[in-house]
Amino acid sequence: MAGEQTRRIDQPTRALARKRILVCGKGGSGKSTLVALIAAVLQRRDYRVMVLDGDASNPEGLVRLLFGVGVQNEPKPLIEFFGGTERVTCPVDDPSPLTRIGESNPVPAKPINLSTEIGPEYSLERGNLRLLQAGKIETYGQGCDGPIEKVVRDFMLDDEVVSLIDEKAGVEHFGRRIPDRMDIILGVLDCTRESVSIARRIHGFTTEMGTDNAWFVLNKVESQAMSDQMMDLLGDLSEKVTGTVPYVTDLVKAALAGSPIDEHLAAKHVDPIVQRLEGIASQYR
Ligand SMILES: Nc1ncnc2c1ncn2[C@@H]1O[C@H](COP(=O)(O)OP(=O)(O)OP(=O)(O)O)[C@@H](O)[C@H]1O
Ligand SMILES: [Mg+2]
Repeated sequence: MAGEQTRRIDQPTRALARKRILVCGKGGSGKSTLVALIAAVLQRRDYRVMVLDGDASNPEGLVRLLFGVGVQNEPKPLIEFFGGTERVTCPVDDPSPLTRIGESNPVPAKPINLSTEIGPEYSLERGNLRLLQAGKIETYGQGCDGPIEKVVRDFMLDDEVVSLIDEKAGVEHFGRRIPDRMDIILGVLDCTRESVSIARRIHGFTTEMGTDNAWFVLNKVESQAMSDQMMDLLGDLSEKVTGTVPYVTDLVKAALAGSPIDEHLAAKHVDPIVQRLEGIASQYR
């Protein structure tokens, strides 16, 4: 019994393993930056991490944040694994779940094994982290990004991996029911009234979905007064703020220099947020 107890104490928390976290919010609020910071912290805590770039519009985004500019080969878009837009339809036109090529079994019913099914051409790797891209708008007149969003919705994994998903700006994905299969919706709020309105929307949508899984991060906070003002504006929703990240000049400098985010910076600012998310995830078990 004593051995059992010691083992339990020594075992690191793995509350976020197998969880799908969708990061969303206002344009420019810091969604991609937060994804990169959280991914770095999760990696330091020995989680296996799958970061899915679900933003069809941002050509570089997470590649720069996680690997820096100058990466030779970007990952092949995951939508191609499913047969491209020939096969993958917009979830509004056709809500049916994604299937693998040649299979009728829906992916959510038989999740994908990241280690054995997804070839290295679909990802960039760094230790226990893999970055995948759902797909990008590459050509004029290509059509709407709905099919790419379907990949975001249904790319469910059968591995002990945390899925961290970077969404495009705004709330269109809620209109398309993309958050249906997410465990945690993490809204990133910069210190603006627009972000407060979007937080209310996000919370309203999750209530409509019948869940209570919307949580928030305040980002680019320049002073305690600014944080207090945001919390006042959020009212009841302030309870759902998992933490704050200050305005960090080094993040801006890295964006211009093209360097990846620094993991010590991540640990300094995002460790408590990850701990809070672990606490939240263990409630949903
Ligand atoms: N805590 C922070 N302190 C200072 N600058 C930040 C912080 N977080 C993000 N930024 C900067 O804000 C800008 C927008 O960040 P980011 O690209 O992460 O936002 P986003 O919400 O993903 O944007 P988009 O809506 O275009 O996807 C970047 O230049 C980034 O370096
Ligand atoms: Mg982004």
